Amino acid sequence: MSFYDADMLDLNIHIHDPEPMYEWLREEEPMFWDEHNEIWAASRYDDVIFISRNTDIFCSRLGVVPNIDLDIWPDDAMINKDGRDHTVQRALVSKGFTRRNIREMELRVRELTKELVDRIASKGSCDVVSDLARPLPMLVMGDMLGYTREMSDKVLDWTDVYVAGGNGPQHLTDSIVESFGNFVMFHEELMAERREKPGDDLLSIWMNAEIDGEQLTEDKIMYEHNLLLVGGSETTRHTISGGLLQLMRHPEQRQHLIDHPEAIPNAVEEIIRWTTPFIRMGRHLTRDHEMHGKVLKAGQQVIMLYPAANRDPRIWDRPQEFDVTRKFTKPALSFGYGKHYCLGAALARLELKIMLEELLARLPDMSENPEAPSAYKPGCFLKGLETLPVVFSAQ
Ligand code: HEM
Repeated sequence: MSFYDADMLDLNIHIHDPEPMYEWLREEEPMFWDEHNEIWAASRYDDVIFISRNTDIFCSRLGVVPNIDLDIWPDDAMINKDGRDHTVQRALVSKGFTRRNIREMELRVRELTKELVDRIASKGSCDVVSDLARPLPMLVMGDMLGYTREMSDKVLDWTDVYVAGGNGPQHLTDSIVESFGNFVMFHEELMAERREKPGDDLLSIWMNAEIDGEQLTEDKIMYEHNLLLVGGSETTRHTISGGLLQLMRHPEQRQHLIDHPEAIPNAVEEIIRWTTPFIRMGRHLTRDHEMHGKVLKAGQQVIMLYPAANRDPRIWDRPQEFDVTRKFTKPALSFGYGKHYCLGAALARLELKIMLEELLARLPDMSENPEAPSAYKPGCFLKGLETLPVVFSAQ
């Protein structure tokens, strides 16, 4: 089978059994030219690392969403920066994500997780996505941003809609634009509130911060705020729901984790490899560069297909097997690599670990609801479950 005609920005191509296509890409066309979108696609592990590492050839400043024009859809967040601009902007946000901060968050994440599990434990059934995986990351981010519960709920409804903007300009809809507009208005109101009454939340830190003696513009703060929401809440949920689904489908592995909870951190790594919530990030070529016999021209774009790299047999033993006892000699690329390596990786790992610990201890017989199938959301930016109905013995 060949996939020469594949449209990498199709909303279903990465969702329903993309493995045959990824295998073909890695083996036959490791630098694939997608004629529909006029972009290159890289699928091998080492190539994704090479592209991420060589920021002088593959830059982020023209946008990481393919075919987006930042003059029309501006986004001043760190993810779209290179060099010093990136370093100083990232350093500001990093203040909230030190190892110590994350360690200190453990108690709070556990408290929030327990609260969510308490709400469903006596019911005997729930939807893992809407009851557990969707709310937890948003509540954690909401704490860091100084939101009330009502704010977290409202913002989550908007980000759920406008995150689809990451699929690319050809997939934009009125509801995406409207939801983003709602978020921008909310952000402005919140900034006005914090100006009156600053706190110790991330927004207040950004408002008081200076880069080269200048305060951050309101726009810049808004884009960083948005990046944390999309990066922090829309992704982690897919590792929680996708990981639980795999454990339900591999009861012997689940039992292993129940018997050996100390093995959960390794299971977290396997779940992060297996689920790979971001399908891709993009880069622009700053100059001509040859890879696998193809000349990538200055100005062209390349996307890195993280799920394909995370199943590359050159790196992974039995890549198509889910195995919570896998021995990792190299990291999965789900969090990217290099200078833009995910700032929230430790937090995402913590949330996933605590959710697994709580659920395996309290609802160990959770299984898929035979009357209501799970389903994925269509998309070419993020991949994850929209619904995962389950049943269990009520507690
Ligand atoms: C499983 C969950 C997550 C996944 C799979 C994920 C994935 C990624 C990836 C692939 C990148 C690299 C982008 C690039 O190279 O262009 C990235 C960057 C980033 N992530 Fe995450 N992320 C997750 C959770 C989080 C969380 C919880 C936060 C914040 C609370 C977060 C905040 C960020 C930020 C701020 C960046 C930009 C870093 C930079 O440009 O220097 N992410 N993430």
